[in-house]
Amino acid sequence: MTCSPAFQPVAPGDTPVLLYVNGTPLHVPARISVAAALLAYIDAPPWHRSAVSHRPRAPYCLMGACFECVARIDGEPGRRTCLTSVRDGMQVDLGAPHETR
Ligand code: FES
Repeated sequence: MTCSPAFQPVAPGDTPVLLYVNGTPLHVPARISVAAALLAYIDAPPWHRSAVSHRPRAPYCLMGACFECVARIDGEPGRRTCLTSVRDGMQVDLGAPHETR
């Protein structure tokens, strides 16, 4: 019996995109979400900290429902990284206290 994986890697021919994560450059494949890029390519710090308990938070649902993946992207706080596609030159700031738009 042959099985094929449920998920396939991004086509290797894609031109990588350069993100800056807390100021550190990171090359990731194009056409993926910021959350996917961070989960796959770095040992990311907490995305943010709970406003109540101040405990670290990170992506949970990966479909836009839980808001556990919010981060500051290009200076805009409260962006859901699981719904945001990577873009060349994007600035992603993780680990800040919970911020709202
Ligand atoms: S991981 Fe749940 S909203 Fe992004």
